[in-house]
Amino acid sequence: MKTRITELFGIQYPVILSGMSWVSTPELVAAVSEAGGLGILATGTLTLAQVREGIRRIRELTDKPFGANVTLYFPGAERNAEILIEEQVPVVNYAMGKGDKICEAVHAYGGKVVATVTNAKHALAAQKAGADALIVTGHEAAGHGGRVTSLVLVPSIVDQVEIPVIAAGGFADHRGFQAALALGAEGISMGTRFMASVESPVPQVLKDKASQARVDQTLYSPKIDGIHARMMVSPGSKRLASRPLNPLNALLKSRRIAEMMGFSWPKLAAGIMLSGPENAFRMARMALGFEAFERGMIDGDLDRGVLPLGQVAGLIHETLPVADIIRGVVGEDPR
Ligand SMILES: Cc1cc2nc3c(=O)[nH]c(=O)nc-3n(C[C@H](O)[C@H](O)[C@H](O)COP(=O)(O)O)c2cc1C
Repeated sequence: MKTRITELFGIQYPVILSGMSWVSTPELVAAVSEAGGLGILATGTLTLAQVREGIRRIRELTDKPFGANVTLYFPGAERNAEILIEEQVPVVNYAMGKGDKICEAVHAYGGKVVATVTNAKHALAAQKAGADALIVTGHEAAGHGGRVTSLVLVPSIVDQVEIPVIAAGGFADHRGFQAALALGAEGISMGTRFMASVESPVPQVLKDKASQARVDQTLYSPKIDGIHARMMVSPGSKRLASRPLNPLNALLKSRRIAEMMGFSWPKLAAGIMLSGPENAFRMARMALGFEAFERGMIDGDLDRGVLPLGQVAGLIHETLPVADIIRGVVGEDPR
């Protein structure tokens, strides 16, 4: 099938794997790209060396187009973006920041840029910065979805931009895919559905929980990592969403982020404290959130950890191979 998205990225189906930390690994990225979609590597929790290794690993596993993401407000994201550019990643996906320099550098080697946005202001800014396409993420989404539902947000942004739109947040099957096309999107990006795939690296217990969750078993709170985000309702997420922030504890926890990203902890802590109270509080929440994400997504412990989960989990009933998911979504083998 053809849309401006398949043409732009040189892929068979306009189905994208969202860049999910600890989930969108080289193996899952390659599986999605091999099946005709576009896999996006998540770099948010990787050191510079791991980003480079990840890209090289994807190239060993597939010769199909793939992407990698950078969330620009995360510590270290700009340095990760430089690696993506040096390695000439075919599609660079950025979010939460200014994309002008990324667009210029990626276009210089013939790559494409897709910006993830949750409102019209950021969509228009990304188009102006030179992005080739947008991932528009609605309220239903796992993680940082917007305040407006995909049903309304997607067509409202399609009406305001020239570049093609990929709809994200609430898509998992053929009905959702057709609905996204009807809203004017030219592809979809899925997180929750691919997290619950055979090739996904998360513990099976999380895939089972995602397949058993009802549509109303998520919560949307700014208290998990400092920005409104959607998680599965669990003892861990309820505790984080209700607990007042302890800045000293957060400062201590930021050490783990520094370790993971290969940064000097005193430098990171000083940078955060000097960035102003609003950002410092957001980063403090992120530091506490990071520990909970690791406990949830790596250990599968939702009593103390958290799992980002979209409302669409309520429409997912089994763990399937990536190729079956994509075929089902585009209607070649409807499920
Ligand atoms: C387990 C999981 C982890 C995620 N991690 C990230 C992340 O690290 N960064 C990010 O920008 N979005 C993250 N997301 C959100 C996805 O990128 C995407 O926006 C969302 O899943 C789309 O909505 P859907 O879940 O309804 O398909 C994550 C989603 C899930 C399910």
